[in-house]
Amino acid sequence: MILIFAVDNNWNIGVNGDMLTSIPDDLTRFRLLTEENIVLMGRKTLEALPEQKPLPNRVNVLITRSKDYKKEGFQIVNSLEDLPFLLEKINPLGKMEVFVTGGGNIASQLLPKCNRAYITKIMKSFENADTCIPNLDLDKEWEIEAESEIFKFNELNYRYINYVRV
Ligand SMILES: NC(=O)c1ccc[n+]([C@@H]2O[C@H](COP(=O)([O-])OP(=O)(O)OC[C@H]3O[C@@H](n4cnc5c(N)ncnc54)[C@H](OP(=O)(O)O)[C@@H]3O)[C@@H](O)[C@H]2O)c1
Repeated sequence: MILIFAVDNNWNIGVNGDMLTSIPDDLTRFRLLTEENIVLMGRKTLEALPEQKPLPNRVNVLITRSKDYKKEGFQIVNSLEDLPFLLEKINPLGKMEVFVTGGGNIASQLLPKCNRAYITKIMKSFENADTCIPNLDLDKEWEIEAESEIFKFNELNYRYINYVRV
């Protein structure tokens, strides 16, 4: 599995159920990387999506403990133990990548299953942030494979960093 997240200096990813910010080029990159693949998200991340609609041209998998949860366009799974069975069913040949797209809770639990991470590092500390993912810079099991130049959007500086499990 592959983590894909936009983080701030402290690896924060969200505030009040919402994203910290929105960078158009980053959203385009997210779309290009994840299209034709599987996107996996927790129920709270779904609720942050515009109109709670599935992401187009992707297989959308939602994780919730609510057994009767239904949402058009989403495959629902009720536990991480059941997840491999669902993935095997929808991706029997393993041709699609599985992207862990949110949020902090799901990322922390699935990190041990991930061997790659596409991180957008936003060079700012959002003081009011309330959700984060594990800091891969402090994790000896991860190293940087590639990093982009610094880009700018309005007052924000950011760069793309690809991590791999050592
Ligand atoms: N910066 C970024 O790239 C980025 C990307 C995505 C999201 N975000 C932000 O992240 C925040 C949301 O993250 P979050 O950590 O609060 O929530 P989350 O990970 O999106 O969702 C948590 C929910 O997932 C379900 N869940 C978690 N573990 C489960 C398990 N083992 N089995 C079954 N269901 C399980 C539960 O749903 P139920 O309560 O329904 O059981 C739980 O409440 C928002 O602020 C969002 O905007 C940021």
